Amino acid sequence: AMVEKGEYRHFMEKEIHEQPDSVQHTLSEYLDLVTGAAKTNAVDFAAVERIQIVACGTAFYAGQIGRYAFEKLAGLPCDVEIASEFRYRSPAVSKSTLAVAVSQSGETADTLASLTWCKAQGLKTAAVVNVHSSSMAREAEVLWPTHAGPEIGVASTKAFTAQVAALLALAVAAGVARGRIDAATEAELVKALFESPRLIAEALRMDGSIRAVTQDLAKADDVLFLGRGAMFPLAMEGALKLKEISYIHAEGYAAGELKHGPIALIDEATPTIALAPLDEVFEKTASNLQEVAARGGPVIMIAPEKAPDPHGAGIRRVHAPDCHPLIAPLVYAVPVQLLAYYTAVQKGTDVDQPRNLAKSVTVE
Ligand code: AGP
Repeated sequence: AMVEKGEYRHFMEKEIHEQPDSVQHTLSEYLDLVTGAAKTNAVDFAAVERIQIVACGTAFYAGQIGRYAFEKLAGLPCDVEIASEFRYRSPAVSKSTLAVAVSQSGETADTLASLTWCKAQGLKTAAVVNVHSSSMAREAEVLWPTHAGPEIGVASTKAFTAQVAALLALAVAAGVARGRIDAATEAELVKALFESPRLIAEALRMDGSIRAVTQDLAKADDVLFLGRGAMFPLAMEGALKLKEISYIHAEGYAAGELKHGPIALIDEATPTIALAPLDEVFEKTASNLQEVAARGGPVIMIAPEKAPDPHGAGIRRVHAPDCHPLIAPLVYAVPVQLLAYYTAVQKGTDVDQPRNLAKSVTVE
């Protein structure tokens, strides 16, 4: 069936707004609402010694978020690599590794080749894909579907949050299977995941405050995104989104890495966007923002209203919903996407068909 934009100006805007539903549908594949249990979905995580995720672009950042969860919740070592590097560098892999391809289309040439290579090495393979009839869905032994529905905008949004939702739920299941998560913790984490569609819907109501910020952003030549923990890959995703559709140069950095170089870029014309949920590293991120502000850099801190104000002038705040740290990458994906979207709209670019880009890169 033909997909229409309906009341929305662009497919990207529509797809951003579909995320409460697409995340909900995806989670219902991996979590049992009735029993509150995380399902293992055809993989015996107790028998897996290592996970190797391969992906490109936005799917690579989803994979990195998944890595933080697999290691933290399941004590399962996890590597994530860009498929175009993985496939040509003769990586050393061990037999008890589970190879996981992450892809919206299931057709990205480098990711598919990496998956095929892993299978030929005798590894168990799984694919987190949104197109369930795709080459990767057929190639992998285990299909871990996302249920984002057709994504038309070249800039990936709802496919990304669906990938993150699937990986977080699988990480909980892995933690249970490996004896790292007890029944009470499982119930708490599953409940947090099931709250994410509602909190994503709440985050969508940030559009007015985000739009206000993009008036300055649209004038910038360079933008820095900062985050720690799972907010670090999300910072890179934010930078990619802004580059893709607004053509503004942006970089995503781990906030703690700032002093090791990028702080040299800070001046009055270089905005810094900080993704700062109230988690165990909030204070660390806040002190990095003081350093930026002290050097005259405009700072936009996206954080819950109840988060303390970092000392130092010039820090502008945008309030995000307060949420369980596990689901922060899902909730904070929304302001990150809206920032790119409204900046691009202001610049008048072709949001759904940005220059030089294809929806899926099926040739190298
Ligand atoms: C995201 O906005 C991109 N256009 C791009 O990075 C994309 O995520 C990448 O090409 C991977 O595509 P896939 O998920 O279909 O494999």
